[in-house]
Amino acid sequence: MNTLNWKEIWSRRSFSAGEKLSLDTLIKLDGFDSGAGRISSENWQTYADIISDKLKIESGHSVYELGCGAGAFLYALREKHALKVGGLDYSSALIEAAKHAMPDGQFVAAEAKLLDTEPAYDFVISNSVFHYFSKDYAATVLARMVQKAKVAVAVMEVPDLQTKLESETLRRDLLSQEEYEKKYAGLEHTYYERAWFKDQAAALGCSCEIFDGCVPGYAQNRFRFGAIIKKH
Ligand SMILES: C[S@@+](CC[C@H](N)C(=O)[O-])C[C@H]1O[C@@H](n2cnc3c(N)ncnc32)[C@H](O)[C@@H]1O
Repeated sequence: MNTLNWKEIWSRRSFSAGEKLSLDTLIKLDGFDSGAGRISSENWQTYADIISDKLKIESGHSVYELGCGAGAFLYALREKHALKVGGLDYSSALIEAAKHAMPDGQFVAAEAKLLDTEPAYDFVISNSVFHYFSKDYAATVLARMVQKAKVAVAVMEVPDLQTKLESETLRRDLLSQEEYEKKYAGLEHTYYERAWFKDQAAALGCSCEIFDGCVPGYAQNRFRFGAIIKKH
């Protein structure tokens, strides 16, 4: 049985002093380095470009990422656009890496539910994080993200409740039984109905567009979706 909880797991991911923090290293630090979760830096960059196009992100915009980890997603967005960035994550080790990779960014180590709604950013995003929240916690966090955003909120890489069984089977199949138990025992993910985001957005007076998982070459793609919540 795994005695670590998710927070302890994420807090153990740190970089060595003097290590060059390339996009590849940041992606690995953020957990996309094994089993069904592996993503190459090329595919990661394409994914960030797809999301950037969907949101119509341009140079001069500001982007804040909730649960940013080491900042791999923001880093890739900045490969294409000159952006002001900020982020929050409860792993201080990963926040340290983000600060090293993007020294001009505003990064803070904190629990997601403590997200400060000021200062506002054009876009407030979250990639591959909502499955660590309970539904009540997620509703609180989403409302704060909407408050902080000037233009839109994007929540990506959300596990789809409709494909839960298939998704857990794949996760298990790509690892040996021993590896799976070591990696996941006692560590649950929360799955969401697509309608949950639409309902939350409507309650917050916003529109909501749902899109299918779109990370090129990603084994988990078809079990994930994203939501773009627009303020106007
Ligand atoms: C799979 S990683 C994704 C990191 C980053 N968003 C990316 O796409 O590269 C999940 C991140 O969520 C963070 N996280 C999970 N639950 C959190 C919480 N309650 N508050 C703040 N951060 C949290 C973890 O520390 C970890 O960095």
